[in-house]
Amino acid sequence: MQLSTYKKAKKIHLRRLSLLACNNMIKFTLFIVLWFVFLAGRIGFSLHAGAYSNVSCFENERQALLEFKKGLIDKSNRLASWTGEDCCSWEGIGCSRNTGHVVKLDLRNNAIFDHARWTFDDRQNYVSIYGETCLGGQISPSLLNLQRLHYLDLSSNYFAGIRIPTFLGSLKNLRYLNLSSAGFSGTIPPQLGNLSALGSLSLGDKYGEARDWLQALNKLRFLSSLTLQPYGIYSFPHIAHHNFTSLTFLDLRDSEFNSTIPLWLFNLTSLVHLDLSSNNFFGPIVPHSLQHWTSLSYLDLSTNRFNTSLPDSLFTLNNLVYMDLTDNQIQGPLPFGLGNLTSLSVLRMGINMFEGKIPRAIGQLRELTELDLSSNGFNGTIPSSLWRLSELKSLDLSDNPLSGELHDVHFAQLTQLKMLGLSSLLALNVSSSWVPPFQLHTIDMSSMKIGPKFPLWLQTQKKVESLDMSNASISGTIPDWFERVCHGITYLDFSYNHMMGKPPVCKGNSGLKYRTEFSLESNEFEGPLQLLPTDIYRLHLQSNSLQGIIPHPDINKTLAILLTLDLSDNHFNGSIPDSLCSLQMLVVLDLSNNQLSGRIPSCIGKLKTLKVLHLGNNSLHGHIPISLGHLNVLQSLHLNRNKFTGMVPFSLRYLKNLQYLNLGNNELEGIIPAWIGDELSSLRSLVLESNNFHGEISMSLCKLSSLQGLDLSRNHLSGRIPENIGNLSQLESLDLSKNDLSGPIPQSLSNLDSLGWMNLSFNKLTGRIPSGRHLQTLDDPTIYMGNSGLCGEPLDKSCPDGKSNAGESDGDHEDGKESYFDWFYAGLGPGFAVGLVGFLSVLCFQKSWRYAYFGFLESLFNKVWVEIALLKRKFN
Ligand SMILES: *[C@@H]1O[C@H](CO)[C@@H](O)[C@H](O)[C@H]1NC(C)=O
Ligand SMILES: *[C@@H]1O[C@H](CO)[C@@H](O)[C@H](O)[C@H]1NC(C)=O
Ligand SMILES: *[C@@H]1O[C@H](CO)[C@@H](O)[C@H](O)[C@H]1NC(C)=O
Ligand SMILES: *[C@@H]1O[C@H](CO)[C@@H](O)[C@H](O)[C@H]1NC(C)=O
Ligand SMILES: *[C@@H]1O[C@H](CO)[C@@H](O)[C@H](O)[C@H]1NC(C)=O
Ligand SMILES: *[C@@H]1O[C@H](CO)[C@@H](O)[C@H](O)[C@H]1NC(C)=O
Ligand SMILES: *[C@@H]1O[C@H](CO)[C@@H](O)[C@H](O)[C@H]1NC(C)=O
Ligand SMILES: *[C@@H]1O[C@H](CO)[C@@H](O)[C@H](O)[C@H]1NC(C)=O
Ligand SMILES: *[C@@H]1O[C@H](CO)[C@@H](O)[C@H](O)[C@H]1NC(C)=O
Ligand SMILES: *[C@@H]1O[C@H](CO)[C@@H](O)[C@H](O)[C@H]1NC(C)=O
Repeated sequence: MQLSTYKKAKKIHLRRLSLLACNNMIKFTLFIVLWFVFLAGRIGFSLHAGAYSNVSCFENERQALLEFKKGLIDKSNRLASWTGEDCCSWEGIGCSRNTGHVVKLDLRNNAIFDHARWTFDDRQNYVSIYGETCLGGQISPSLLNLQRLHYLDLSSNYFAGIRIPTFLGSLKNLRYLNLSSAGFSGTIPPQLGNLSALGSLSLGDKYGEARDWLQALNKLRFLSSLTLQPYGIYSFPHIAHHNFTSLTFLDLRDSEFNSTIPLWLFNLTSLVHLDLSSNNFFGPIVPHSLQHWTSLSYLDLSTNRFNTSLPDSLFTLNNLVYMDLTDNQIQGPLPFGLGNLTSLSVLRMGINMFEGKIPRAIGQLRELTELDLSSNGFNGTIPSSLWRLSELKSLDLSDNPLSGELHDVHFAQLTQLKMLGLSSLLALNVSSSWVPPFQLHTIDMSSMKIGPKFPLWLQTQKKVESLDMSNASISGTIPDWFERVCHGITYLDFSYNHMMGKPPVCKGNSGLKYRTEFSLESNEFEGPLQLLPTDIYRLHLQSNSLQGIIPHPDINKTLAILLTLDLSDNHFNGSIPDSLCSLQMLVVLDLSNNQLSGRIPSCIGKLKTLKVLHLGNNSLHGHIPISLGHLNVLQSLHLNRNKFTGMVPFSLRYLKNLQYLNLGNNELEGIIPAWIGDELSSLRSLVLESNNFHGEISMSLCKLSSLQGLDLSRNHLSGRIPENIGNLSQLESLDLSKNDLSGPIPQSLSNLDSLGWMNLSFNKLTGRIPSGRHLQTLDDPTIYMGNSGLCGEPLDKSCPDGKSNAGESDGDHEDGKESYFDWFYAGLGPGFAVGLVGFLSVLCFQKSWRYAYFGFLESLFNKVWVEIALLKRKFN
């Protein structure tokens, strides 16, 4: 079995997370600090936080602030401290030490950090929780009374689409203005161009085009820091004509560029910090000669489409401290000139197409604290010089075709190492008494040969937060001491090994961690499970040999935050415990392929966030509970291969988001409800095969225009196949076999261009088999067998009027209706049965869909995480 793309994506994310965590931010922060010192020095004022101010503030400024507060919506009461006389001590206010005037108003919403751990679910939850700490409402012009204001930060709030107030252009002392991600919209007022003292400007939101306004930028002579993401694309022509020799900090991340890097950018002689990441830049990275960027120390070109090899001129930028080229398509070998960049502290080149040997010169980068060469085509052996980079905190060589075993000696000098990524490299062959010189917090050694014995050296690691040893050929039981190693761990992946005995128990000591996830699937873990840990976020135990009853959630934990519980493909028996209904944040519940019996607890309707409910292939019985209709975000419901009886409950019509419904192989009865077609308009797959449904196939089913597989086989359906079946334009597979359908096969079937598989056998269909268009390719006679009244191609039986080759005759007139009437008048269809069945290779789809789904959750989650990490990186 292949590790899914989901898993690969997860790896990449994990790697990024750990990289961020290990990041050598000291130098970067230092730079920011220096920049502020420079700024403060130049404009000659000193800020101090209100907390240690003892100056009572000016009354008119106090009133102005109160007026400003009145206009704001402050749900979480962030401005609770805004009472009393001394406004200098209020939250977010800074006064000048000398004059006592308010000079700083910092209302940036940092609460995202405090709340981060609550935001594990999907985007919606994230927004609602994060949203509560956002300020909104109106910006009162009373701010104009703060004429000494130097610093205004309203970023990361949500002003619900109001315009940026024009009067901000009159706060003429402003040095720093940050309106990033604050929910303003509309055009940007040209008055901002009046802020002639501005040194730092950050505007990042999806406003309209900013053209007019940017001309005014020409007046901003002192601008040294400019953050325009995501507008860069509109601003380029203007910046180009601007005399920006003073610009030291330029952030044009995520700005929808789709071009080569414009040449004028290489003329910005003062640049220290340049961030062009997450655009669509392509072509060569830098020109062959680079004269002006001599001050550059921070260069981020990650996540673009650069696709040539690295030019030597890049290696003349010997002030570079930070270089990130991750996630491009850069080719060729790594030049020896790399060794010139001796100031480099962070070098990220992962996810590119580099090839050849890792140059020995890498050993000259003695300051390196972080090196990421993962997911490239580096081959040969790892140069010994690399192992002498003793400052390394993070080293990632994963996913390269490198050769050679790694031994104890290699790591002897890496005493600082905290992150080690060796995934997919050949083998780690260390002695059983190895005591590594480092304490790792992140270990990625998946798909590497580590076993068969459980690695003893892990015993020495006291600070492990993330451990991936999936597919690492480890057999046997997990030693008891591992409980100490994994105490408080946030990510553990032992999947795809041959581990036996009890699955590991890891006590959380850390309260709620933002990300806590155990992937223990596809091993040989056995025995009963005592308690279900609920203080983690995802638990994967599928494809093991676990038995006994489904464990109860650990109700002693204050909060059950489990989002994903996958216990499928085990030997659990007994019934589904009611206590599972207390897992009120559950999004994915998969208990399929076990030996569960009893009924589905009716409290299941309490799991309001459930998107995936898979209980297929068990021995559950009774009625399908009506309360399932409460799960109104449910997207996938599989109850197939059980012993459910009765009718499909009417309440399921409320599952408007349902895309996959499989009730096949049960003992359900009644007619197929018409509301499936009328209400469940998102359905992509509907499988009702092998039940006791009877009656006609409702015409309304043909409204399901997203349907790809439809399987109604092995029921007792009668009547005709609906004529409008041709409306199911996405249909890929159709199974109506083994019913009592009668009448002719509608000509509209030939409109189903995506149809790749069909089975109409063993019914009572009559008349000529239609032809034309796509049906011509479905020429296997077994599709139609067991219908004694059918004639024409591809059957051997010719039709009574003598035209054995229906294809030829119908081919002349493509109009489906006409041919339908042909039959009708030929009296070939006394049709009283209509049947419609679709089929999808359910299991196949089930698996891939499952992964796709997890991938989806994952990507949302990671987006949030990465955002937070990025913010943290700035604020650290
Ligand atoms: C603030 O000033 C008042 C007198 O104006 C004094 O009593 C008080 O101790 C001062 N507080 C601090 C923290 O310096
Ligand atoms: C402006 O605020 C955003 C979000 O709070 C932050 O990421 C960014 O670094 C700030 N810009 C500057 C130049 O400080
Ligand atoms: C501010 O900018 C606007 C528009 O650019 C301009 O009309 C106005 O004269 C400026 N005001 C001052 C005081 O410079
Ligand atoms: C650009 O600005 C620099 C100083 O910031 C000044 O020396 C130079 O003359 C200016 N050039 C033009 C063309 O305005
Ligand atoms: C970039 O531009 C090319 C050609 O102009 C276009 O085909 C492509 O779709 C664009 N890509 C994006 C992401 O806008
Ligand atoms: C870059 O600057 C040089 C002068 O130093 C000038 O001749 C050239 O036109 C500039 N290039 C661009 C693209 O602005
Ligand atoms: C490494 O890759 C290069 C080019 O991709 C190839 O020419 C060379 O033979 C490879 N070396 C080894 C040891 O596999
Ligand atoms: C591990 O390395 C030792 C030498 O250090 C060697 O004798 C042994 O064969 C290696 N084991 C494997 C499985 O390659
Ligand atoms: C497991 O690792 C081996 C190399 O050790 C690799 O060939 C294989 O593709 C990996 N399997 C999975 C499922 O990743
Ligand atoms: C049903 O589950 C059992 C394990 O309980 C498994 O062996 C069997 O293959 C599954 N059947 C299908 C059709 O998936």
